[in-house]
Amino acid sequence: MAEIDKVFAGSIPKFYDTLMVPLIFQVYAIGLAELAAASSPGSVLETAAGSGVVTRALAPQLDAGARYVVTDLNQPMLDYAASRQGPDSRIEWRQADALHLPFEDASFDVVCCQFGAMFFPDRVAGYAEARRVLRPGGRFVFNVWDRIEENAFADEVTQAVATVFPHDPPRFLARTPHGYHDVARIREDLIQAGFADIAIETREEVSRAPSARDAATAYCQGTPLRNEIEARDASMLEHATDRATQEIARRHGQGPVAGKIQAHVIVATR
Ligand SMILES: C[S@@+](CC[C@H](N)C(=O)[O-])C[C@H]1O[C@@H](n2cnc3c(N)ncnc32)[C@H](O)[C@@H]1O
Repeated sequence: MAEIDKVFAGSIPKFYDTLMVPLIFQVYAIGLAELAAASSPGSVLETAAGSGVVTRALAPQLDAGARYVVTDLNQPMLDYAASRQGPDSRIEWRQADALHLPFEDASFDVVCCQFGAMFFPDRVAGYAEARRVLRPGGRFVFNVWDRIEENAFADEVTQAVATVFPHDPPRFLARTPHGYHDVARIREDLIQAGFADIAIETREEVSRAPSARDAATAYCQGTPLRNEIEARDASMLEHATDRATQEIARRHGQGPVAGKIQAHVIVATR
C-alpha cells in the first residue's frame, strides 16, 4: 500500500460521506452494526471509523450504560463523524492508529472495523492489537471488500481513469480497498494474530446512485484516488471524472445506476 492511500483529508471527508457512504458503505454498515450489537456489549471499540456510518447505525442499538470508543487514524474523518452524530455521552471520539491502540489489555467486549483492515500496513499486527484489547470471549467484527472484478463501479472507474493516464494508471482502488480479498489469507492472518474461532461470510449487495456522474464523482473525488489523480496532474481531475462517468453510463445507462458490490464479513472470537 502506498502512503498516499491512507490520506483521508482536505475535501475527501465531505465527498466521502455525502457520495461514497450512501453508494457502498451504508448497506454494509447496517449489517455490521447488527452483528456488533448482537451480544449486547457493554463496551465497544470502533477502529477506522471514517465519517461515522457504522457509529450512526450502532449507537442506537447499545445499552444506555454502554461505553463506545470511536477511533480513526485521520482526525479530519473523525471530526466529520462527530459533527454528524447527535450529543451522546456514551461516545468517546479519539484519534488512534489501529496498529497501536492506546487502550488497556482486555478492555472491550467488541472491536468493530468497517472496511479499514485493507489500509493496515501490517494486518497481523492490526488483528493482534484488536485481540489484545478484547476481553476473553470478546468478538472482533469487521469486513473487507472482495476482488475489484466483483465490484462493478470500482472496476469501471479504474479502467476509465487508466485511459487518462495510460503510462502510469492510478491503481488505488485495485491496490488498496480491493487488494485484500483472499479468504484463506485473511483466515491465516487472523490465526497468526492469535484468533482460533473465525467465521467468514461473503455478502453480495447492490450499489445505487442517482446518476453515473454521482457514482464517478464519489470514487474520483471522495477517495484517495483523488490524491493519485492530482499527484499526476491536478488539472485532470474533472476530465478523469468525466471519463469515469461515461464508462459507468455506457454500462448502466443514463438515469439512476445500480451495480454489484461484494464483501467478506468476518467475526473472530477471542
Ligand atoms: C474506506 S474508509 C472506511 C471508513 C468507515 N469505516 C466506513 O465504513 O465508512 C477507511 C478508513 O480507514 C482509516 N485508516 C487508514 N489507516 C488506518 C489505521 N492504520 N488505523 C486506523 N484507521 C485507519 C482511514 O482514515 C479511513 O477513514
